[in-house]
Amino acid sequence: MRRYLIAGNWKMNKLTSEAVALVNELKRSLPAKKNVDVLVCPTYTSLYPVKSVLEGSNILLGAQDVFWKESGAYTSQISPSMLKDVGVTYVIIGHSETRGRFGVPEPDFDETILKHFGESDETVNRKAKAALSAGLIPIICVGETLSERKEGISDGLIAEQVKKALDGISGEDVAKLVFAYEPVWAIGTGETCESDEADRVCHLIRTTIEGLFGSAVCEQVRIQYGGSMKPSNAKDLLAKTNIDGGLIGGASLKAGDFSAIVDAVE
Ligand code: 13P
Repeated sequence: MRRYLIAGNWKMNKLTSEAVALVNELKRSLPAKKNVDVLVCPTYTSLYPVKSVLEGSNILLGAQDVFWKESGAYTSQISPSMLKDVGVTYVIIGHSETRGRFGVPEPDFDETILKHFGESDETVNRKAKAALSAGLIPIICVGETLSERKEGISDGLIAEQVKKALDGISGEDVAKLVFAYEPVWAIGTGETCESDEADRVCHLIRTTIEGLFGSAVCEQVRIQYGGSMKPSNAKDLLAKTNIDGGLIGGASLKAGDFSAIVDAVE
């Protein structure tokens, strides 16, 4: 039986005082649910203050990215052990806002953002391995853009993202992982992927893992849906067999909405 994971990806939002206020509110408003893990992923600058407020609660702390080296001359980067050190247990890796697909025209997406962060399947794989070695649980994001969906190449592309992310990782470690299916066209747009379709793609992710590591491993991997999840659509999405939680952006910035999504888990 997989536990649900409802995670808030706060992205580049909230000053430290606002982040602390939000978790204080969450501590009061979150419903008690036995089968749900609740996670918040603030910006780096708020990790430590937020952790202090989370002390004594069941809310878990996550980060939005990590580098694969432990230390050294890597200006701007943060290592897995640095995240562990402040109490982080989960880390988002390969979010579409950090991935770059050079050479592929993406008219529906801001090219300058893609080029700035330049994440590739290979860097996702390196980060996942480094995070696992440090004892962090990676949340690996996969998903297609609108043009890729229109071209009919989404399924192949997502299977490829999953395979490349898992290259060289043991079955034992894969079982601990979380995947997030985030269709790029549904992120921050208000346009949610239809729940049957989200379930189908999450199933595709699971069968891809099964093909590589067998059914015992794939049955343990948790697969979230992310992309305009909100109180009004959460129940429908979270009721699906292959959806084990949500990775929530906009709606995680309001304690009431985030709590309502947690409450939508049956
Ligand atoms: P929204 O919920 O704002 O669409 O963002 C989803 C997301 O990107 C979570 O990682």
